[in-house]
Amino acid sequence: MEKLNGKKKLRVSVFISGRGTNLKSLINFSNMKNCPIKIVLVITNNKNAKGIYIAKKNKIKLSFINYKNKIKAEKKILVDLKKYNIDLICLAGFMKILSKKIVNFYNGKILNIHPSLLPKYKGLNTHKRVLKNKEKFTGCTVHLVNSKLDSGKIILQKKVRILRNDDKNSLSKRVLKIENLIYPKAIKKFITANL
Ligand code: GAR
Repeated sequence: MEKLNGKKKLRVSVFISGRGTNLKSLINFSNMKNCPIKIVLVITNNKNAKGIYIAKKNKIKLSFINYKNKIKAEKKILVDLKKYNIDLICLAGFMKILSKKIVNFYNGKILNIHPSLLPKYKGLNTHKRVLKNKEKFTGCTVHLVNSKLDSGKIILQKKVRILRNDDKNSLSKRVLKIENLIYPKAIKKFITANL
């Protein structure tokens, strides 16, 4: 991690595959006075991702990565990250698993947000599994990415109570709101710890 000298902002790339509410929250954060990050690139594997409109509206450069061939896709990702001098990667609903090559190259500089209280409920369909297991709480986690799925060091986590009438949709909505709140906080915490 490049040291911050008080003025210099970290150059961030946000990776998305869908809606982009976390991207939006990170953009709002980056627009705040004295924010330590600048979002310079959005990467997506999905041409139909709604989040693309958010990137465009905010005049952020966008790169589409065709994942038909994962090796070629990751080569292009590395070229883009180099081209834009990216210091920090924020995965925000990016539904592809990065290979060891990228993870090692950006070791300790990739964050992800996951809709569960990790280490519980790694992987997909978290809300469905949480409800099936009659958990009392769920939540969301921002963590560092390592080469194992949803397993890197936890930066910030927040609990969400499960209500009696919750279904998958109501729960995912409530958790998402909290995700949007904690992602910027986690970045602040992460940067402060790495100063
Ligand atoms: C979020 O709930 C995020 O935690 C999840 O995808 C959603 C993206 O929403 N990510 C994962 O499940 C990754 N394992 P968004 O596109 O509105 O930010």
